[in-house]
Amino acid sequence: MTRAVKGTHDLFGEALAYHRTIVDAARRWAEAAGAAEIATPIFELTEVFERGVGPTSDIVQKEMFTFSDRAGRSLTLRPEGTAGVVRAYNEHGMKVWPQPVRLWYAGPMFRAERPQKGRQRQFHQVGYEVLGSGRPEIDAEAVALSYRILASLGLRGMRLLLGSVGDPADRERYNAYLRELLTPHAARLSPDSRRRLEANPMRILDSKDPGDRSLLAELEPRPMLAFLGPEAAEHFEAVRVRLDALGVPYQVDPSIVRGLDYYVRTSWEIHHDKLGAQSALGGGGRYDGLSELLGGTAAPGVGWALGVERVALAMEAEGLSPSAARALDLYVVPLESELVPRALEVAARFWPDLHVEYALKARKPGKGLQEAEKRGARFAGLLGPDEAAAGTLTVKDLETGEQRTLPLEEVREWIGKGGRA
Ligand code: HAM
Repeated sequence: MTRAVKGTHDLFGEALAYHRTIVDAARRWAEAAGAAEIATPIFELTEVFERGVGPTSDIVQKEMFTFSDRAGRSLTLRPEGTAGVVRAYNEHGMKVWPQPVRLWYAGPMFRAERPQKGRQRQFHQVGYEVLGSGRPEIDAEAVALSYRILASLGLRGMRLLLGSVGDPADRERYNAYLRELLTPHAARLSPDSRRRLEANPMRILDSKDPGDRSLLAELEPRPMLAFLGPEAAEHFEAVRVRLDALGVPYQVDPSIVRGLDYYVRTSWEIHHDKLGAQSALGGGGRYDGLSELLGGTAAPGVGWALGVERVALAMEAEGLSPSAARALDLYVVPLESELVPRALEVAARFWPDLHVEYALKARKPGKGLQEAEKRGARFAGLLGPDEAAAGTLTVKDLETGEQRTLPLEEVREWIGKGGRA
């Protein structure tokens, strides 16, 4: 039997219901804030990610699914959404639209990581990007949305870690400091970190290697936040003031390191306490230089993405069910086999307001009620020859036991009111 490729999953049933609930919540919030949906291609020229996500990132160095097309061009399945959105912003001249431009997206992303709980090779993100403004209100807006979407799903066990990676010049100073601090101990660093010492020492701080971790614990490097220049520091303070005004609870993480190279200034991650090693539900940050890296004109930007599968895992861990797995409102039971087509007609009348299904075989009333209960229906509708002739349905409220024979229009009303008169 052939199977789905390792690290990929079929989405159906409950998993898909979680997925839809999460994407629907993100859509509602993003559109309320003025975002329009965008769907960029699932693959791009490899250079979009090489330049955008950055040559020193783990993603570009070892996690991309890259292939050549028949003309020998190098293409890559998108590992994330931001680079493609910024490419599209430039390509379609969105710079002349009223600024800032707010865009949101949902779709599959691909990273060749070692699969484990909460980490797939094909996973899904919902994301939000605002282009064309460097104002701290926009950072605060983006952070607040990413947090509130999660809160609106009922999640409680979240930690929002907020930091700043400064402006490029600040980062250069910080990297120079780290290089000086770590070079004398280079022999103790893992091979990956030794490579990073040249290109991007900041990434060493994010290393999971136990040797690297113990060296860092000994050396106690000063955090990035201590190296912010006056402008980045002022911006960070302004973002904090605005988040406080919005009542968004966050913790300052002075040494936040994000896995993508395009970030400047505000950076954040939202973690969940029940997810184990892969605890980040989402993350984001400002990326003011990205547009130029992709050959466009300057366009400041800030955004975030949530990992849909991880949010679903967190919801499950907190016992939150997907509202999209909407309970069965009514299960229609034909009492004679000739009435099966009529049962379809009755069910179809209520779509899409109510979730209604029907039995494909005649059932005795008792058996039909049992079957409705087993399917988790709130109401069962018994359809015998009398009901069919009169245009009625005998509806039983499976919660209270109350039973009524009602014309179909009134069935809708009774069920809609949850069985109240
Ligand atoms: P990221 O932190 O790389 O950011 O990914 C965002 C979220 O996607 C993660 O927090 C995680 O929940 C989920 N995720 C990442 N990799 C995997 C995986 N292999 N399996 C399952 N879930 C995963 C970005 O992608 C940026 N584009 C976010 C952004 C938008 N920054 C600015 N705008």
